[in-house]
Amino acid sequence: MLKQAKNLKFFVCLIERVGRKSTHSLLHSFKLHNMPVILGIESSCDETSAAVCADGVMLSNVIANQTIHEAYGGVVPELASRVHQQNIIPAVNQAILNAKINKNDIDAIAFTRGPGLLGSLLVGVSFAKSFALALGKPLIEVNHMQAHVLAHFIDEPKPQFPFLCLTVSGGHTQIVLVKDYFDMEIIGQTNDDAAGEALDKTSKVLGLPYPGGPLIDKYARQGNRNAYQFPEPQIPGFDFSFSGLKTAIMYFIRDNVAINPNFTQEHIADICASVEYRVVTILLNKLKKAAIAHGIKDIALAGGVSANTGLRQGIQELAAQHGWNAFIPRFEYCTDNAAMIAIAGYHKYLQGDFVGQDVAPLARMPF
Ligand code: KG4
Ligand code: ZN
Repeated sequence: MLKQAKNLKFFVCLIERVGRKSTHSLLHSFKLHNMPVILGIESSCDETSAAVCADGVMLSNVIANQTIHEAYGGVVPELASRVHQQNIIPAVNQAILNAKINKNDIDAIAFTRGPGLLGSLLVGVSFAKSFALALGKPLIEVNHMQAHVLAHFIDEPKPQFPFLCLTVSGGHTQIVLVKDYFDMEIIGQTNDDAAGEALDKTSKVLGLPYPGGPLIDKYARQGNRNAYQFPEPQIPGFDFSFSGLKTAIMYFIRDNVAINPNFTQEHIADICASVEYRVVTILLNKLKKAAIAHGIKDIALAGGVSANTGLRQGIQELAAQHGWNAFIPRFEYCTDNAAMIAIAGYHKYLQGDFVGQDVAPLARMPF
């Protein structure tokens, strides 16, 4: 248990309006008014996370990160499943404790059904099913990519329907037209690599540990984004491509290292700033095109890459230039987290959208 606890890096968040002292009385009034309490569970990749929300108000969000993958330059699926198995019970326990509720206060259990790594998903889905069975409570399946979008409905201000959400993560790059909570249309997506993948692969070539996105962000802040010019692919419509850019970055580094073996160490900040700038301009140029074409004024960011400083600044500038509104989730709701699963579960609960005990995870799960 002690070893497990050491393995866990908990980032615990209670929203400001629910301070620790007031949580219990707040929950009491939620129960009094028959307002639903949802437990959310996320295990699609390499974060084991559990969160509790009461009537859409987030009471806790516990995230156990897996550091084991750093040495491998990417997530090792088999190792991820094993660590999920170790972390899931402590994470759920902690989420219940932080929310100051009793497990019997839970009205439904929402879990990520997919998309994601099958072995990782199996841990969360199996746990959710067992816990629901033990408590006699209903189950709610959640699509991970929809949940990233619905992270915008945790805090104020919330976007108005219809809005456009640029969902950028390690595995996905999508422009989603969000017409309602569960009425979403992907109007643009990547033909090959995801934006986060391009950043992670670049960082690997630079000799940085996985995941590289946050480190590229850190170095980029000290660099000149115009130091090196990388190509912007010309893809029709609102779709993306990052494989050409990735190859261009690889060749650029290979050629320069051949001339100067210390090239990457000496120029890491400028390289990171230039790569980040190109990724951000590719993403935002497509978002701008889509917003103009669809006459949308509310534009939003979601997914792990939306934690990126350059992208966050860029979408604010884009919105200011056009008189649009930009929406960006808090950091802990950008990368994988169970709060977004709990809020998605809450809106499904209101619609009475439950699943049975025969539900199974899906590595690929369309909207
Ligand atoms: O949504 P997410 O946590 O997991 C997936 O569903 O993939 O996204 C992970 C991705 C990784 O590629 C990671 O490098 C990237 O998000 N990321 C960042 C930053 N923080 C996380 N990329 C750029 N800047 C960041 N600050
Ligand atoms: Zn994700």
